[in-house]
Amino acid sequence: MQHKIQRHRFRLSRRTVFRSSLLGLLALVLVVPSASYGGKTKPSAAKAGQLEVFSWWTGGGEAHGLQALIKIWNKNHPTTPFKNETVAGGAGTNAKAVLAQRLAANKPPDSFQGHAGQELADYIKAGQVEPIDFIYKKSGFDKIMPKQLIQQITYKGHLYSVPVNIHRANILWYNPATLRKAGITTPPKTWGQFIAALQKAKSAGLIPLALGEQWTQKHLLETVVIATIGPARWNALWKKGANWSNAGVTLALNRYKTLLTYTNSDAASLTWQDASKLVADGKAAFNIMGDWADGYFRVDLKKKPNTGYAWTAVPGTNGVYDWLSDSFTLAKGAPHRAAAVQWLAFLGSKKAQDTFNPLKGSIPARKDANPKLYDPYLKWALNQWKTDKLAGSLTHGVVASNAWNTDVDTALGLFLQSKDVKKFQSSLVTAAKKRA
Ligand code: GAL
Repeated sequence: MQHKIQRHRFRLSRRTVFRSSLLGLLALVLVVPSASYGGKTKPSAAKAGQLEVFSWWTGGGEAHGLQALIKIWNKNHPTTPFKNETVAGGAGTNAKAVLAQRLAANKPPDSFQGHAGQELADYIKAGQVEPIDFIYKKSGFDKIMPKQLIQQITYKGHLYSVPVNIHRANILWYNPATLRKAGITTPPKTWGQFIAALQKAKSAGLIPLALGEQWTQKHLLETVVIATIGPARWNALWKKGANWSNAGVTLALNRYKTLLTYTNSDAASLTWQDASKLVADGKAAFNIMGDWADGYFRVDLKKKPNTGYAWTAVPGTNGVYDWLSDSFTLAKGAPHRAAAVQWLAFLGSKKAQDTFNPLKGSIPARKDANPKLYDPYLKWALNQWKTDKLAGSLTHGVVASNAWNTDVDTALGLFLQSKDVKKFQSSLVTAAKKRA
């Protein structure tokens, strides 16, 4: 499936894919340095005492939280050192392809990252992960994590993953000084205000809305659809028999088309960090990105919340949490199963979650976080999470399977070339019907 994504993207944006493939290949060589088999890179033989954890957290805004966990793990498990098997690339676009190869070749890591919801369901249905109810029973994680999250990750009565965080996708990031310079007095709350602000930014010679490679374009799309039709109708779109041909979706796609006219022309060749940095550097007025950008602005770029960077909900989504959750699994056939079980029990602990999340720019999956450890953005997010309506993220695996996501990627890729809203909507209708 991921190969299909790669193939498709090659047609659409050779430059991006060429770079992504290089990154993926480089990462593969770095994490699994060994011989080749069947044209693919073979993971090195597992060492007796270690823990192999697979993720896509390598870059700015991604790696610090994981590094902090690794430090604690290695201190507490001196005979089972952490083997960090990361594959670079935002949203796991490269990593998921590499993981698919490893799983197909029966060379799983001990534990791998996946998104709560339909993405993880794919691995469960394929029998690639083990149920871990026994970990929940022992640790009581199901009592300390929100009910709706536990429901999302339960498949046929069993639990298969431990969520380490909750991220929010629908955030509009900006730099207060840049907005002042452009004469934008308050961050936009409605669609009309948003367009007016983008127009002002354009007149001031700024990039109005910074954008990156294709997954960030899908990320933008999902927030615009949620803003236009609301969370209830959004969530319903991913259920059997959903009506994708309705006027709300048409309006959202037209709005998306309008937004694209305010974005940078080199988007396809920028990572999410590149696009966020345009805001931090005062070159762009806005960027719509998940709250991993909070970690990037604060921890990597050393910007101060509220002055160096600031945030608000994507216009039209105030009171809506477009959520996703990074979760880790126990791989079927894990080479170091006992270590993986310990890792998962650790990940769900208060200590691990309150260490990881303040650095990552996410809030803990647990309800008992110590708010004092969290920055102003995350304190705000902790409160919003308690009261907001939930919309599941598409780009980050909550509402649709990998296969459905691939169909959306294909339709979106074609739309980015043609800008034909009618055709785009009709391919989305077809993609949904396949799941009926
Ligand atoms: C998401 C992931 C986040 C963050 C982001 C950018 O899919 O859940 O943890 O890493 O991608 O890479």
